[in-house]
Amino acid sequence: MNVLILRLKIVVKTCCSAFFFMLLAAGAANAQQSLINSKQEEKIRALISQMTLHEKVSLLHANSKFYVSGIKRLGIPELALSDGPHGVRAEINRHDWAYAGWTTDSATCFPPGTALAATWNPELASKQGLVLGEEARFRKKDVLLGPGINIIRSPLGGRNFEYMSEDPFLISRMAVAYIKALQSKDVAVSVKHWVANNQETHRDSVDVQVSERAFREIYLPGFKAAVTEGGAYTVMAAYNKFRGDWCSENEYLNRQILRNEFGFKGVLMTDWAAAHSTVKAALSGLDLEMGTDIKDYNEWYFANPLIKAVEEGKVPVSVVDEKVADVLRVMFKTKMFDEDHREKGKMNISGHQKAAYNSAAEAAVLLQNKGNILPVNFNKIQSIAVIGDNATRKHCGAGLSSEIKALYEITPLQAIKQKFGASVKINFAQGYEKQSTFKEGSNRGQGNSDNVDWKLINEAVKVARESDVVIIFGGLNHDFDTESFDKQNMDLPYGQEVLMQEVAKANPNTVVVIVAGSPVKLAGIVNRVPAILWSWYGGMEAGNAVADILSGKVNPSGKLPFTIPVALDQSPAHALGNFPGKDLKVNYEEDVLVGYRWFDTKKIQPQFPFGYGLSYTGFALNNFSTDKKIYEKNDIIHAKLMVKNTGARYGAEVVQLYVSDPVSSVLRPEKELKAFQKVFLQPGETKTVELDVKVGDLAFYDETKKSWKVEAGEFVLQLGNSSRNISKTLKISVK
Ligand code: BGC
Repeated sequence: MNVLILRLKIVVKTCCSAFFFMLLAAGAANAQQSLINSKQEEKIRALISQMTLHEKVSLLHANSKFYVSGIKRLGIPELALSDGPHGVRAEINRHDWAYAGWTTDSATCFPPGTALAATWNPELASKQGLVLGEEARFRKKDVLLGPGINIIRSPLGGRNFEYMSEDPFLISRMAVAYIKALQSKDVAVSVKHWVANNQETHRDSVDVQVSERAFREIYLPGFKAAVTEGGAYTVMAAYNKFRGDWCSENEYLNRQILRNEFGFKGVLMTDWAAAHSTVKAALSGLDLEMGTDIKDYNEWYFANPLIKAVEEGKVPVSVVDEKVADVLRVMFKTKMFDEDHREKGKMNISGHQKAAYNSAAEAAVLLQNKGNILPVNFNKIQSIAVIGDNATRKHCGAGLSSEIKALYEITPLQAIKQKFGASVKINFAQGYEKQSTFKEGSNRGQGNSDNVDWKLINEAVKVARESDVVIIFGGLNHDFDTESFDKQNMDLPYGQEVLMQEVAKANPNTVVVIVAGSPVKLAGIVNRVPAILWSWYGGMEAGNAVADILSGKVNPSGKLPFTIPVALDQSPAHALGNFPGKDLKVNYEEDVLVGYRWFDTKKIQPQFPFGYGLSYTGFALNNFSTDKKIYEKNDIIHAKLMVKNTGARYGAEVVQLYVSDPVSSVLRPEKELKAFQKVFLQPGETKTVELDVKVGDLAFYDETKKSWKVEAGEFVLQLGNSSRNISKTLKISVK
């Protein structure tokens, strides 16, 4: 009996298998059902019946940069929106883009999307959602414009840092957790950018062509999960065109898929200035026009022109009523008519800052640690060289729409000084300099990025020689990882490669820390420096988190949410020459082979694979089994394994289950992620992990039948701790 209880206690729940999330959404097969409540719907109809056409239309377009008018006489409040995905943006003037200069809007700044995804821990996404919800409410916001969940298609994507991954399953698990938590605080999310907005170059004019299969298997699943499992209240239509039509007026996307297939009952809004028509957009399912670049709000597509279109019989009034109903439904769900019972909000309390620290600490990915040079034993060294612009640069306040006015931001140098400065001599050298003085996020900032400054390098070499250990903080900044522009190449800018090589020659105890939100070329340094830690943009607690990892107080447990290629031309969109497209058209010829699906299928050795990350301890995966060998198409595969911490430190491993279909009537990726679980273990501890996968999730999208298909036959379950480190495989059959 006791043995049984003990065993039950140590079984780790499969919080990240598709099945678990299906159960979470269960009760209502589709979380959008929870937006409908018959009493509420009656109230909505009653309100609409009292509105004039002018009043109805006033709810369908902004009255300023981030607000939509209410209707006072009917008690309908103004709707307040705010950016962004990893913190509530500071207040912007009503009618221009300047900041309003408030003193109460210094927010908690989380590590952005790729960092969150690198934690592979949906609980942290959930914590972030709760904090953002509380801070949004403190600021009296009703809609927070995030999460950003577009697929990372190219290492050059300017907004990769805001998004999460190249893998739709990882995105889905993180996004659903974030959305549910945030909306539980009476704030609507806006899932963006719907859809296939995978580059910034010509983002507002490029036309994306993608096969239906790749669309369904790669680009849609995150949005589907966000809407049908997460219950997202609002969705933001992207700038780009999709198969010839703007996303904001795309009948196929907005009516057929979002409304009909996903059952979306909330508000579909435009991205800022992404509306292009009145009648077409109105008839195809758009509700709310935001950010249009016309001074007089009455002249926007969904203002006077919509009234005129109704009067001329081009748009039925019932269509307008549906849009108004969508807006009111979101208002009811976020308790805008019930302020007494609504979340009051909190701003930047210590619990919020702790959540930001936890995300930064769990996100860092240890890429290389030759000779176990990390962690640094600060009790045993006398001096440390801290080198590089990113040792002192603050990043929260840049990146354009996701920029945050952080209450504070701890840089790595500050944290190292504060934690170890009393006993260890800290020798700082600039090493390299950000060349541009433009505001970060203007593409002009990427100019001169191949300058090598030998004066700075020589100074750095000198301090490296005088120190026991060297830490170089390099990588990118928001001149590169930014909205509006893609990166021009994958290089480490400002001569950093030379800096790192020269410093490592001067002192072999050199650790490189990469601060960046999208892949960079590491080929020039992997064989020159013993240790590389990828610490992302770490939010307001960046410095504290990275210092704790370097010193071993925290054991790194992050895993790459994208592949790092050796060089850009390894990467699918670039190998095929279809990024960023030609003549304002981009054809996603790599099809379903995005990210590791391409590298693994084509047997290309990347620099570091998807899902990869080291620890200061070791782990062993054993006793991998499934409950059956032969499954029916509606079954669930219950897989089980034991994971053991084989080292002497507390740590966490991310157990990853990939599946491949070796014999198929269509080309299938070599393997695809279907379940994962982050497991925390004391030294020597073993836990049992259960991972469930629906057989239905092994399907591919059959373009001829326009439906999902699981072909009978053999499938291989591959268990590992990265897409390239598979330690156990098992074959199962589907009848
Ligand atoms: C971005 C959105 C953002 C909006 C409002 C647009 O340029 O694409 O992600 O939410 O601006 O700032």
